[in-house]
Amino acid sequence: MNASDKAASLIHPVSDRSQKLSPSPTLSLNSQAKAMRASGVDVVNLSAGEPDFPTHASVVDAAKAALDAGETRYGKPGGGPDLLKAIVTKFKRDNAVDFAPEQITVGAGAKQILLHAFLTLLNPGDEAIVLSPYWVSYADQIAFSGGTARFVSTLDANAGATSAQHLAAKLEAALSSKSKCLVFSSPSNPSGEVLSEASLKVIADFAKKNNLWVVSDEIYEYLVFEGEHRSILNVAPKLATQTLLINGLSKAFAMTGWRVGYAAGPKEVIARMRMLQSHSSTCLPAFVEKAAVVALSGGKAMIANDLDKYRSRRSVAIEQAKLLESSVGVGHCYPAGAFYVFLDLRPVLQQSKSCKSSMEFGNRLLEKHHVGAVPGEAFGAPGFLRTSYATSIENIQKGFAGIKACAQEVMQS
Ligand SMILES: Cc1ncc(COP(=O)(O)O)c(C=O)c1O
Repeated sequence: MNASDKAASLIHPVSDRSQKLSPSPTLSLNSQAKAMRASGVDVVNLSAGEPDFPTHASVVDAAKAALDAGETRYGKPGGGPDLLKAIVTKFKRDNAVDFAPEQITVGAGAKQILLHAFLTLLNPGDEAIVLSPYWVSYADQIAFSGGTARFVSTLDANAGATSAQHLAAKLEAALSSKSKCLVFSSPSNPSGEVLSEASLKVIADFAKKNNLWVVSDEIYEYLVFEGEHRSILNVAPKLATQTLLINGLSKAFAMTGWRVGYAAGPKEVIARMRMLQSHSSTCLPAFVEKAAVVALSGGKAMIANDLDKYRSRRSVAIEQAKLLESSVGVGHCYPAGAFYVFLDLRPVLQQSKSCKSSMEFGNRLLEKHHVGAVPGEAFGAPGFLRTSYATSIENIQKGFAGIKACAQEVMQS
């Protein structure tokens, strides 16, 4: 019996809501690349949105000590007092923003926190304005919550960042009487763009004027390589009553598997998100909370060595991207933050007869050149390809060599 036969035999179809979901393309590509590697193929994987560093030893030790002390029971939905205090202190120290513990909730990664945020903020039929290219899960999570995403591109025609003035016009064009919230990540996954202060001001004024919730995903805040990270609430403190700041430990602290994410915002919204948490995954494991406190207290200083490595890798990735530009005409978005270089394959695809989409390019790249990278379709940006430089310099060089060879091949066919 194949999958569709099974579906036909269900006593009822699955809910309309769940039929709106599609598998996460970033996770499936990553597993495809891993499966090829497991079968002996020497795959260079630039598809993972995951640091390759180990979690800091002091964080691991804190979890081990907590396990030895028997901290294996349920914790508090929304976070225990020590963890909430550590998050309050982090916001004060890093972002100069004051929150009370009741304004914070924690969950199993920023991904779960974002889902809970959309389920809490959106009614069926509401629209969410999402800056694009966007992180894959926003679209599915908004749809699952009953909302409709309206995408606003932050790129200009040549993959450069849209000016603040142009962004204001694009936001106005996406507004409707159903608009309820505005969602973005800065630094951005996938483009690496860090929104300028002027663009953040435009977003803040637009949200204020139109009574929109703002969901500001700042999970890459420590990975800003030019200038300093600016939270939307630094730029516009007046937005505090209508903003959820989203953050987590996965990216900065190389703690993807620990599943720690958090949100800060108005306490009435946070109280609802905590209730939802109590009915979904309940709480973080107590020993994970102990480890998270150590990471949050260590802050950016704790990951100084990792940041140095990212800086070197980023230089190599930019150098390689420039080489791609001069040799095969592939452009890129300027990667000021996060750990991605978002390549613009459109000039190559336009010249090719056999390869017309970044999806086809990504498949060919993996199958023939053994390089994993994520096609832009996943992020609402067909024609682009996301490469991650959270890997060794050798892999970055090999991966870009594969992309160049693939581009040359498709331009001739
Ligand atoms: C922009 C962005 N937000 C949120 C997440 C979710 O992170 P996690 O659930 O691991 O905390 C990711 C992970 O890729 C991301 O790139």
